Amino acid sequence: MALVGVAEAAARRAGRIIEAASGSLLQVTHKGAIDMVTQVDLAAEDAIRAELAVHTPEIPVLAEEGGGAWDASTRWIVDPLDGTTNFIHGYPSYAVSIALQVDGRLEVGCIYDAVNGIAYTAVRGSGARGDGQRLKVSEAARLDHALLVTGFPYDRRTEIDRYLPFVRAFLMRSQGLRRAGAAAMDFVAVACGRVDGYWEFGLNPWDVAAGILLVQEAGGQVTDMEGGTLDLLRPRILASNGKIHSEMTQTLSELLSSA
Ligand code: IPD
Ligand code: CA
Ligand code: CA
Repeated sequence: MALVGVAEAAARRAGRIIEAASGSLLQVTHKGAIDMVTQVDLAAEDAIRAELAVHTPEIPVLAEEGGGAWDASTRWIVDPLDGTTNFIHGYPSYAVSIALQVDGRLEVGCIYDAVNGIAYTAVRGSGARGDGQRLKVSEAARLDHALLVTGFPYDRRTEIDRYLPFVRAFLMRSQGLRRAGAAAMDFVAVACGRVDGYWEFGLNPWDVAAGILLVQEAGGQVTDMEGGTLDLLRPRILASNGKIHSEMTQTLSELLSSA
């Protein structure tokens, strides 16, 4: 099976667990004050690890709940359920995210939208697809005309004053700002051209790995907030349609330098 097929099979297997559990009683454990995990996150991750082990036993896995291959340059990177808070509340935006890195380079990505049952896939050099369609980022050429998304990190109760200036600046300079509560779905929105740009602090590799490739293969741009190379281990993400990227890095750089 092609590696993108392996990623999709594993994501769909986790998706079936998530879909079956939606609306049922959840055992919620707190990892932090507002960062939660349920039995569904854990079961989904077990299912993904099992599926990946069948097809690629030689490739180690780094996944959110069980950790693992932190130091490997060839590995699967897995978020078994992105948007756990949404899932717990029944807010319809959550996904499974699986990427393959080979020698440090992202080669394959799959985000399974578990609400709508759609698998979005990307293969380096071969484009991005979802629901049978080729994905393409939007055409918006000015921040002034752009719809943006962002996320609010889990340390916001202590760090809120660091994050709010960015929200204020983009609310003033864009056409609108949305918050869907699942990083993977924010990348999907950029890749499909439903929004034009996305920034977020405080993410982890499993939140971003598949999404980065999806946006790049849909013709968009992904960098750190100042336009430089992204650190996958501590990503401060900026993903856009490419056309508004420099306007966004300008705003982010201004605020980062005065923070
Ligand atoms: C979270 C979501 C959210 C983002 C958080 C992530 P989780 O992932 O992607 O949108 O703002 O920073 O940690 O915890 O639901 O897998
Ligand atoms: Ca996540
Ligand atoms: Ca998660």
